[in-house]
Amino acid sequence: MSYLEHFDTLVKEQIERVERMKNAPAAPDFASMDKVVIGAIDGDGIGPIIMDSCREILNKLLADEIAAGRIEIRTIKGLTIENRVAKLQAVPDDVLAEIKECDLLLKGPTMTPGKGDNLPNIESANVKLRKELDLFANVRPVVIPEKGIDWMFFRENTEGEYALGNRGVDISDDISIDFKVTTTAGTKRLARAAFEHAKANGNKNVTIVTKANIMKKTDGKFLELCYEMAKEYPEIKTNDRYVDICSANLINDMVNKDFNVFILPNLYGDIITDEAAQMQGGVGTAGSANMGSRYAMFEAIHGSAERMIKEGRGQFANPASICRAAVMMLRHMGAMEKADILEKALDAAAENVNIVRDGSGDTAADFTKFVLGAI
Ligand code: IPM
Ligand code: MG
Repeated sequence: MSYLEHFDTLVKEQIERVERMKNAPAAPDFASMDKVVIGAIDGDGIGPIIMDSCREILNKLLADEIAAGRIEIRTIKGLTIENRVAKLQAVPDDVLAEIKECDLLLKGPTMTPGKGDNLPNIESANVKLRKELDLFANVRPVVIPEKGIDWMFFRENTEGEYALGNRGVDISDDISIDFKVTTTAGTKRLARAAFEHAKANGNKNVTIVTKANIMKKTDGKFLELCYEMAKEYPEIKTNDRYVDICSANLINDMVNKDFNVFILPNLYGDIITDEAAQMQGGVGTAGSANMGSRYAMFEAIHGSAERMIKEGRGQFANPASICRAAVMMLRHMGAMEKADILEKALDAAAENVNIVRDGSGDTAADFTKFVLGAI
């Protein structure tokens, strides 16, 4: 296929995607459901260790609901790098079918093959799931009380640099081109979610983050549409920053507490949320929600940390991040009291359990024991 034909195919696919977005199914009404099925996916590397911890905690926290059949925590196997390489699929078909039968997903980190890993170039399972389940908003809270910081990031999750991240072309030995996609429907639904969140939480201010001075078409559209959405929320103060100065502002204690809600395109959101999580105490401490209309998937903000397993330090993986994600999941399904109980226990664990990556402190098992005792 020539690169012109390739480009033509990509454009047609994106036009079809926009049509699908317009016909997206409605969100489930958890309050009216007899049973909610939570799919629990271990993932790779430290995934099984932190997921075991989180499952044990949820089994205790939700014991009554599980016994009454109102909640099922269903383990979904096969989203492992070995199985994905064997099937040469980012998410093997049978695994995807099982996932789609659940209402909510709690997912451990999965390994993404990169250049130099000596693995086939399969797409990231995360990216594939976000696309397949149309999980358009990646919602990531970062809270640092001692600095007065209370941030909520709304990262676009299906387009931008990720939409065609593995569909770029090597035009020749000299030239490689990747593509970035921004759509009106994709931007509006994210902006809507962010402004609704800001409104529901006392009209917090909203900052739009782009590099629209350089990425004129894609980020230009994103910025313009977000400002247009802002007009529907006149009581909310809206401003924007370029992503470079935004990353500097976040670590500037003179101004960082003034930010509340951020709206970001996919790649900037990826980078900025790691920076913010590090300020909070490390990527191991931050949860992440991938919200769509029909599905929602909750995960740790960090990766699978294969190195910790290879070096025999797996027991020092920190389950805090996936447990924070579980708090977000409980809130999403309307289990507010359970969410509060778990959140308080996690706050207490942050004070009392000291997991350090070099292995000189507590273990994942110590963390689990502490949280089980606190709920
Ligand atoms: C994240 C991760 C993923 C991403 C990777 C694992 C594909 O870094 O969720 O932030 O880039 O989105
Ligand atoms: Mg990331």
